[in-house]
Amino acid sequence: MIKDSFNRVHNYLRISLTDNCNLRCFYCMPEEEYEFTPASKLMHASEIESLAKIFVNEGVSKIRLTGGEPLVRKDAARIILSLSKLPVDLSFTTNGVRLHEFIDVLLEAGIKSVNISLDTLDPDKFRIITRRDLFQQVRDNIDLLLKNNIGVKVNVVVMKGFNDNEIPDFIAWTKDLPLEIRFIEFMPFAGNRWTSNKVVSLEEILNSVQIKYNFTALKAGKNDTAKHFHIAGHAGTFAVISTMTAPFCGTCNRMRLTADGKLKNCLFSVTETDLLGPLRRGEEVLPLIHQCIGNKAEALGGQFSGLFENIEPDHIHNRSMITIGG
Ligand code: GTP
Ligand code: 5AD
Ligand code: SF4
Repeated sequence: MIKDSFNRVHNYLRISLTDNCNLRCFYCMPEEEYEFTPASKLMHASEIESLAKIFVNEGVSKIRLTGGEPLVRKDAARIILSLSKLPVDLSFTTNGVRLHEFIDVLLEAGIKSVNISLDTLDPDKFRIITRRDLFQQVRDNIDLLLKNNIGVKVNVVVMKGFNDNEIPDFIAWTKDLPLEIRFIEFMPFAGNRWTSNKVVSLEEILNSVQIKYNFTALKAGKNDTAKHFHIAGHAGTFAVISTMTAPFCGTCNRMRLTADGKLKNCLFSVTETDLLGPLRRGEEVLPLIHQCIGNKAEALGGQFSGLFENIEPDHIHNRSMITIGG
């Protein structure tokens, strides 16, 4: 079992497969020209499989593959299929662009649910956020998953003055489709043009829904990032991920393996523990994992609570989001 010094059991591993992506979302990628990590520095598929097995033997029961965009990796299908044989709940977070190429793989791997980033329902705004003209492809792929009985959670990063006016449109989408829409408070990462006045808080998001809809809170899962809500008569639900104004670190069970094989004990941790180097040298990795999680801070998400107006973008030393995977 992997426990931190606050007795939190860590049984959820997020593995970033690559920092490469086929979209260019401004809130995720650094503003300046970004060089993707060369393949030689990324974990090979066999290394991902070996590390995943070590974590599973230590009690990990949930693995989420992330990126960049996990499905741009040439051997993504092999990795999904091999990890699906482990006794874990396997899923991934994707921009949805290439899902149609993977539908058979998902069905073979028994993937039950996929998280898809889609921040707008307006094709023009989609082009502005992503710098690519692929809105319809993503929309079609969401329908394709639902048709195949694969659950879909839609991640919407809400940015003031940009897409916050679309909150009711996203809610309307849940009337007939069994989607979970997750509104996410905009978080600061290196180079992502974050400013405090672009954050739309949990409270503001709920106020915006309330204008048109009555909703009730649903019971939270033990380690959920999201607070869940339901509107009577809607096939789907909505949720809010409130790292900035109401963090959820007390129940954190997550570890992150970056595509270059570094273990991060928190989304906002600055220090990292290299696992890939020791693995390649044939050294013991397990003690490094326990040491890394043992050093986890109590609540780095909490550092923002009530204080985030004081954060200057220059003070953000964390990696950029595209290299962490969320
Ligand atoms: P589920 O496994 O379906 O609960 O998904 P998730 O919310 O853990 O992951 P997803 O990749 O869909 O990320 C959605 C949002 O939650 C992103 O903005 C992530 O950065 C954020 N997020 C995911 N895990 C954590 C976490 O441990 N801490 C914080 N603060 N945010 C997180
Ligand atoms: N703030 C909040 N969420 C973010 N994501 C990417 N960048 C940010 C940010 N700055 C979300 C994406 C993706 C998930 C992995 O992280 O929407 O779905
Ligand atoms: Fe866990 Fe860090 Fe996220 Fe808090 S901010 S929930 S400790 S990963």
